[in-house]
Amino acid sequence: MPKPIIAQKSPCALEVEAGQIYFWCACGKSKRQPYCDGSHTASGFNPLRVAEAKTKTVYLCACKQTSTPPYCDGSHTKL
Ligand code: FES
Repeated sequence: MPKPIIAQKSPCALEVEAGQIYFWCACGKSKRQPYCDGSHTASGFNPLRVAEAKTKTVYLCACKQTSTPPYCDGSHTKL
């Protein structure tokens, strides 16, 4: 399994809207972090679908090392 690229060493705090579907970048190559821009083609990674029942602020992982994707688990502090 290839390793993801570390896009940045801090999470992205974003407000996501209830019922909206987002695609979190798992490979780290996207130029639209933390969302997928299609750059993962042939990388062995696929984006992760994100959908929340309520509008709220979420902290999406941008270092791509989290054990709870797409959410930050603090792994960036160990890089
Ligand atoms: S660009 Fe990274 S998963 Fe799509």
